[in-house]
Amino acid sequence: MSKDLTNKLNDLLTDLSAEEILKYTFKEFNSKIAFASSLGLEDQIITHMIAQNCPEMAVFTLDTGRLFPETYDLIDKTNARYKMKMKIFFPEATAVEEMVNTEGINLFFNSIENRKRCCGIRKTEPLKRALQGLDAWVTGLRNSQSVTRLNMQIAEWDDVNQLIKINPLIRWSEEDVKNYIKQNSIPYNILHDNGFPSIGCQPCTRAVSSGEDLRAGRWWWELPEQKECGLHKAK
Ligand code: ADX
Ligand code: SF4
Repeated sequence: MSKDLTNKLNDLLTDLSAEEILKYTFKEFNSKIAFASSLGLEDQIITHMIAQNCPEMAVFTLDTGRLFPETYDLIDKTNARYKMKMKIFFPEATAVEEMVNTEGINLFFNSIENRKRCCGIRKTEPLKRALQGLDAWVTGLRNSQSVTRLNMQIAEWDDVNQLIKINPLIRWSEEDVKNYIKQNSIPYNILHDNGFPSIGCQPCTRAVSSGEDLRAGRWWWELPEQKECGLHKAK
């Protein structure tokens, strides 16, 4: 896999619909591609499309141990609705124990360094394991979600993990997402109806007021350009 192949793939995929992108990339990569779902609205759409177009594509989620109860409910509901079993990856127990016993159970509020350490142990390291042996992974990223995602393409070279990242909904608007969920009666996290447009870990996510940025409730004590947990940083 390489940057060159990513550029070629990007040209090939640019005029395809999200469903066509999923079908094409599954045909291309087969068991070497998997979808990372956080159970967000975009992810639920992709799961729905995978179930209908390429049900053999693996779907996994990273359980940080600090998710909302509503998110766990949605894992079950989604598996039942699509007759699937998403694979769950956990952080290394000893690393979590070491971290919380030295820095505190809610260390992420104390400094950006601590927040990044927690994301590193609870998300980035399990992601590395989830991606082992793959050539590509699929995400629910969209350009309009944040300043850090504005220039992302359908196919991106993931330099950190050394594989290709496929973002089928990258150009979708928030409106497109909401309409698709409604039109297809896709199961979604009930927190979305209570002011949570973007949902991550429970302690690091809060509701937003109307007019506020989509991701304003994620790590709300940090600046917008710092708000990547390491799953999607450029380098
Ligand atoms: S985050 O980096 O700020 O947490 P966000 O919640 O916007 O990311 O999700 C963007 C994409 O990253 C999701 O569509 C999904 O593909 C992936 N992702 C984020 N969190 C997880 C998770 N816990 N498990 C699996 N994939 C995830
Ligand atoms: Fe830890 Fe918060 Fe990152 Fe979740 S979002 S891994 S609780 S710092």
